[in-house]
Amino acid sequence: IQYDFGMIGLGTMGSNLLQNISDHGYRSAGYDLDKAKVENLNQLNQENIHGFSDLKEFTSSLKSPKTVMLLVPAGKIVDSVINELLEVLDKGDIIIDGGNSHFTDTERRFVDLEKKGYHFIGMGVSGGEEGARRGPSMMPGGDKQAYEVVAPILKKIAAHVDGEPTVAYMGERSAGHFVKMVHNGIEYAIMQLISETYEILKRGLQLSDAEIYDVFKKWNDGRLQSYLMEITRDIFAFKKPGENHLLLNDIKDEAKAKGTGKWTSQAAMDLALPIPIIDVAVSMRDLSKYKDLRTKAAEIYPNSLDENNSRKLEINTDQLENAFYFAMVSAYAQGMHLLFAANLEYKYGLSLDTIAKIWRGGCIIRSAFLEDIFAAYEKNPELKHLFLDKNIQENISKSVSSIRKVISEAALKGIAIPAFYASMGYFDNFRNETMPANLIQAQRDFFGSHTYELIGKEGVFHTEWED
Ligand code: 6PG
Repeated sequence: IQYDFGMIGLGTMGSNLLQNISDHGYRSAGYDLDKAKVENLNQLNQENIHGFSDLKEFTSSLKSPKTVMLLVPAGKIVDSVINELLEVLDKGDIIIDGGNSHFTDTERRFVDLEKKGYHFIGMGVSGGEEGARRGPSMMPGGDKQAYEVVAPILKKIAAHVDGEPTVAYMGERSAGHFVKMVHNGIEYAIMQLISETYEILKRGLQLSDAEIYDVFKKWNDGRLQSYLMEITRDIFAFKKPGENHLLLNDIKDEAKAKGTGKWTSQAAMDLALPIPIIDVAVSMRDLSKYKDLRTKAAEIYPNSLDENNSRKLEINTDQLENAFYFAMVSAYAQGMHLLFAANLEYKYGLSLDTIAKIWRGGCIIRSAFLEDIFAAYEKNPELKHLFLDKNIQENISKSVSSIRKVISEAALKGIAIPAFYASMGYFDNFRNETMPANLIQAQRDFFGSHTYELIGKEGVFHTEWED
């Protein structure tokens, strides 16, 4: 038999994706160094899937041009697998890296493989295990011709929204992995916002777990509907068999990360493009890991220091819903703005409307609001910032007073909601025609002769301030 598609890396994602591919009538081959994983795949007993433990046998079983996708941990392993593959593939074959590779690695690999005569696609895949099995969202970038060859398979295995697959060619070279990285940055921001909301509901409004479940359920039935809201609701109903309390309450409050959120912040800083809500989300995961320090500081600075400590916040859950809406819009807007800037700098040829379109299903940040984002960029593909869209402008204008109220109440009571603050501060400066940055320029010139520009006058100037 000749197989249509090959997969290297038969972890849960790889194996699920292969089964998804085979469900759609394609013959697929898998390869893994770990014999147990190969065995697991073969035990599925599906006639159009076969696992190999020998790389040469694996690649020989593929139809030409051979398509091989890698789902292996990002980093050096990807390079070593590609090197091994070059020994057994032919020029003109297609290599797809479907992991969360850093976009600069993808850029380097693309250039290198193109020179050697191989087609390379760097593809972000989102949706976790379930997504891989039932329909992920996929963000391929790089070799356009090669994309056209694999597109029929990818379109079939993707999730579908309004009958359309959640996969599309993103753009040149490392575009696919850049887009996936920003997806993850937004994912971090929304997760942080939801966890801060939990803090408000629990400590600020003193609601029980069951009442918190009701709030998330209600929100998920409305305009805040999203995959992350939905799983949060379900987490607030999950008890281990025979136990009477939520599993959530047994889980350590130290958040881990594999790094894609951090990469988003680093990439944004390199482009001098502000995404403070994502920065805060990354930093708060980091702060959560300093449990010992936090425990010590909790003794030194007890909550009783705050005079308003014991009273409930004077807000209702409708105001909180509005505040969440506002902050969520800000998170997506900052991520989209980063894509806009990266597109100019790296000349990827991204279409923000296409990105919003394929994020509407299959991926972790899919949400009802992505329909509004898609509508905004479809109406105006050149839109410079989501806040400038008329529909979004109307909706966030209506939420401003609620988020101010929520933030001020939380601040008075000493409840930490830094991602909410970041969304507010970003907005207030975004719509601030005269920021106090003139003072920073004056200071820079004062101590370092860094010069400044003047309003209504061409040129750069320097002053001897101390005379
Ligand atoms: C997805 C996710 C996924 C990511 C996890 C874990 O889109 O399916 O983004 O790619 O690996 O969310 O990320 P962290 O370990 O960094 O939280």
